[in-house]
Amino acid sequence: MRPGAPIMLLALATGTSAATCTADAFWKAPPTAFGSEVLDIHAEEVKGWNEYATSAPTFPALPVEQKPIDFCNVTVFYTHPGLNDTIRVSVWLPLQEADWNGRFLGQGGGGWAAGGHGALASGVALGYAAADTNAGHSYFGDPPDTILSSKSWSLTSPGNVNIHALQNFAYRALDDMSWIAKHVTKTYYSKDISYSYWNGCSTGGRQGLTLAQRYHWQYQGIISAAPAVNWVTFLVTEYYAHVKMKELKYYPPVCEIQAITKAAIEACDELDGVKDGVISAFRLCGFDAKSVVGQKYECKEGDTRKITKEAAEIANIGWTGPLKKDGTPVWYGLAHEAPLVGQPNFQGLVKTKCDPKEQNCKSDPFMISADWIKQFLLKDPDYDLSNIDEELFHHLLRTSRQQYHSIMDSADPDLTHFKQAGGKVILWHGLADELIFPNGSLNYYERVKEVTPEIDDYFRYFEVPGVTHCLGGDGAFPLTALNSLVDWVENGKAPDHLDGQTIPMFSSKPDAEPAYRPICAYPKVAAYKGGDVTKASSFECADGFGKVTGRHDEL
Ligand SMILES: *[C@@H]1O[C@H](CO)[C@@H](O)[C@H](O)[C@H]1NC(C)=O
Ligand SMILES: *[C@@H]1O[C@H](CO)[C@@H](O)[C@H](O)[C@H]1NC(C)=O
Ligand SMILES: *[C@@H]1O[C@H](CO)[C@@H](O)[C@H](O)[C@H]1NC(C)=O
Repeated sequence: MRPGAPIMLLALATGTSAATCTADAFWKAPPTAFGSEVLDIHAEEVKGWNEYATSAPTFPALPVEQKPIDFCNVTVFYTHPGLNDTIRVSVWLPLQEADWNGRFLGQGGGGWAAGGHGALASGVALGYAAADTNAGHSYFGDPPDTILSSKSWSLTSPGNVNIHALQNFAYRALDDMSWIAKHVTKTYYSKDISYSYWNGCSTGGRQGLTLAQRYHWQYQGIISAAPAVNWVTFLVTEYYAHVKMKELKYYPPVCEIQAITKAAIEACDELDGVKDGVISAFRLCGFDAKSVVGQKYECKEGDTRKITKEAAEIANIGWTGPLKKDGTPVWYGLAHEAPLVGQPNFQGLVKTKCDPKEQNCKSDPFMISADWIKQFLLKDPDYDLSNIDEELFHHLLRTSRQQYHSIMDSADPDLTHFKQAGGKVILWHGLADELIFPNGSLNYYERVKEVTPEIDDYFRYFEVPGVTHCLGGDGAFPLTALNSLVDWVENGKAPDHLDGQTIPMFSSKPDAEPAYRPICAYPKVAAYKGGDVTKASSFECADGFGKVTGRHDEL
């Protein structure tokens, strides 16, 4: 018997932990990751933490009852010697071993932020030991615009990209964090981690797939939502509507684009047989904005205008993405139901800034896309993006692919090793996503399927109608996807659907009761069988919506 074992038994018996929550306890067996050196460790008990409201949210959201939590707050600072970086890993451990469910949860970030503390709280509230990394630069909410701007770290000087910092953000810090945080977790408790999971959306979704692609040993289960994969392509094409505005010398007011989106939703809402403000049958929606040119809309009360042909052309570009000279698409566009102008707190891809009368509008490109172009492609923080015309746009797209594909694209389809290790992926994408093109996720899924045709055994894709980027919208949201993943990994129960529920607070009907609907594994769709449209039992996963509409749908 190892010395110390009786103490561990005692610890178990009293429900306390194996190690105490002090920095000294963790220094006794310092965490390591190859090529790194620990600089500092902090650890302290935090009791009754209840700051959910003021913390960065968890993406994707988890089904958490926001109760006060007690945890051991462990912070490890480390460097890659010679690379002049300082990276922070945060690990939040349920304070009492009895409150730990034995699982580890890696939690992803959003935009340029590699992680966020609010997300760790959700993990702990559900019983997980939860961890994230700041990847060596500013974090969610620290400073506030850090999600949208890489200015504080991307260039060592104008013209010179900090490639090591980009590598940390792209992949390296994710492996480090997983080694370090798991080691800390094992040191604190008397038993080993049973399973490790990843939960992330957007950048977090990209991080999850990157982990499956590069570090197949780290996680048995990965939730990847609305992932920012295909980065070097999609992030540049996100800018394209502004090239079109420049070419047409027309900057459509926000209300005009909103009127077009509204018309598209009205035209396609009922293609699935249910009128719910959501375009579930997105492949059947062939709405062309040119069909509403000249139609009247009310921009502001008493200010009635007509939809212009320029605005129609710009909205259509939002749905197709850039086209090559021969008319074939360069990449993808957003779905018709996506808010092209974005939401109150989030820019969309076809957005302008206007005066209070909704006149004299100017381009207002999505900040992360603009930032990638300025900092990483042009390497000049002062560059005036309004210079970008069609030719420069295509040049920038080539530059992005040439210089950063191997670092940042995050879309290697070869998951053979991950599959062999028994890993499982749930990939989902909201069809009302206003920032990342859902077809980019489908493209990745199809390419993974080419490498591993038995994809259904370990990797499933779910299209989620009516859900905007990571959270929000009128569609049913897969709030319990992590539970479905755990059931798949630990009990072998593969999900043919995720349980969806609307989240009224983040929808256009905040006072409504939640409605329930299955979210079916691609290529199946949730077809209406009849009955109460707010009940999941009124829908079934089917090959098409034809049962209701009397039409055979192509998928
Ligand atoms: C956790 O510890 C770090 C490092 O000491 C500290 O900056 C952070 O505020 C702590 N978090 C909480 C919730 O106490
Ligand atoms: C190391 O990084 C700091 C900022 O993080 C910077 O001020 C310093 O100049 C860098 N040193 C070298 C040798 O690059
Ligand atoms: C997305 O892909 C589907 C085929 O699966 C296609 O019908 C649709 O036009 C594509 N949409 C966009 C915006 O690229």
